[in-house]
Amino acid sequence: MKIDVLLGLQWGDEGKGKIVDVLAPQYPVVARFQGGPNAGHSLQFGDQKFILHTIPSGIFHNGVVNVIGNGVVIDPLILAQEVKALEQMKVPVTERLYIAKKAHLILPTHRIIDAATEAAKGAEKIGSTLKGIGPAYMDKTGRNGLRVGDILLPSFLDKYQKLRKKHVEFLRQFDFSYSIEEHEEQWLKEIENLKQYNIVDGEFFINGYIESSKKVLAEGAQGALLDIDFGSYPFVTSSTTTCAGACTGLGVPPSKIGKVYGIFKAYCTRVGSGPFPTELHDETGEEIRQLGREFGATTGRPRRTGWLDLVALKYSIMINGVSELIMMKADVLDTFDQIKVAVAYKIGKTEHKQFPYEIQTEQIEPVFKEFKGWKRNLSSIVNEDELPFELMNYVRFIEKETGVPVTVISLGPDRAQTIMRQR
Ligand code: GDP
Ligand code: IMO
Ligand code: MG
Repeated sequence: MKIDVLLGLQWGDEGKGKIVDVLAPQYPVVARFQGGPNAGHSLQFGDQKFILHTIPSGIFHNGVVNVIGNGVVIDPLILAQEVKALEQMKVPVTERLYIAKKAHLILPTHRIIDAATEAAKGAEKIGSTLKGIGPAYMDKTGRNGLRVGDILLPSFLDKYQKLRKKHVEFLRQFDFSYSIEEHEEQWLKEIENLKQYNIVDGEFFINGYIESSKKVLAEGAQGALLDIDFGSYPFVTSSTTTCAGACTGLGVPPSKIGKVYGIFKAYCTRVGSGPFPTELHDETGEEIRQLGREFGATTGRPRRTGWLDLVALKYSIMINGVSELIMMKADVLDTFDQIKVAVAYKIGKTEHKQFPYEIQTEQIEPVFKEFKGWKRNLSSIVNEDELPFELMNYVRFIEKETGVPVTVISLGPDRAQTIMRQR
């Protein structure tokens, strides 16, 4: 059996949480492979709404094993808050959740370093979620990090103090006031609590399921355009958000990757700083933000909005080897007379179809193709054959341009508002 991967093709917040929750009944195992509490994955069923940060989006399903893989960075404080909220909804989290020993920990000082380095960047700040993601991955690659497996060792507190001391030394260079003690005591308590979970050798655990022919779904966080290598560097996150990250973040060989679901919005959003060629700074942009409720699930910040960008989308599809596309939030465009899609970038006098090395938004003029809007409320449509011609025209154009079928169309935040296309 192979492992299927679902990942975002834009700058995050494509709707990964919703679709993982929809697909989870087909997958006995759902596993997060990178990122951490910078992610905010929203799920909705009936009047129940939930935002997950570290826990995989299969957690609401009975019989689904949810794994936090080695590629994830965990803040035990945030994890504890998530668990508490889920338990209030009577979800048996400890039964369903498994945590890889090799996942790294986010320390209170990582969050402080994140805040201090962002503040020092001034106008050039990344717009980080300030959850300590960058500093935690720096310690991982710098070979200083603490891992979940370490909490079981008698030397854990010594290791913690050693790293904390390094961080305090590092923080001396910043003119930044902070208090480690504010969260430290609780953090150490939550480290103790972490021991009650199923802590496993993640790579053996996942490969065991693959060997026994159980379907595994790998759930990405962020999006391809925030990838540490291929995203709009330096305005990126610090992990491999692309398909390769599922291999390193779970311990799965490339030959075991099956389907790659690439998820995108019918338009584009971005939260935080960095280039965004099709961004709208006008009323249309504001309309998309309001209709799409485009405010961050983790930080509440307004998301920047713009038209769909096929130059960027094709790039993400190439890097990830996407085999199926999932289009989200088509309903947000219900009232628009016209819908635009960027098919090329004009830089100077030349049109480019290849995503450039450096994206300088001021120098890029997107070349748009316009589509007639469907001007119909899509939110209650349940059958594919009821979808308006204009929407299908839009979908078919995307399929033709990318060469990848759109197999799922999402028409609202609820689980039920999902059209699985017949092929
Ligand atoms: P994720 O990080 O990729 O899981 O996405 P987020 O949860 O951060 O953001 C997606 C937002 O869009 C959430 O508020 C979802 O409830 C909502 N959403 C998901 N799919 C749809 C859809 O098809 N239509 C509408 N209107 N909202 C959607
Ligand atoms: P999900 O999984 C959208 C963005 C931040 C910032 C940059 C770096 O919900 O799609 P970081 O905290 O990682 O140092 O921030 O990346 N970012 C996200 N944007 N969705 C996310 O996750 C994001 N996670 C990080 O806004 O620009
Ligand atoms: Mg999100």
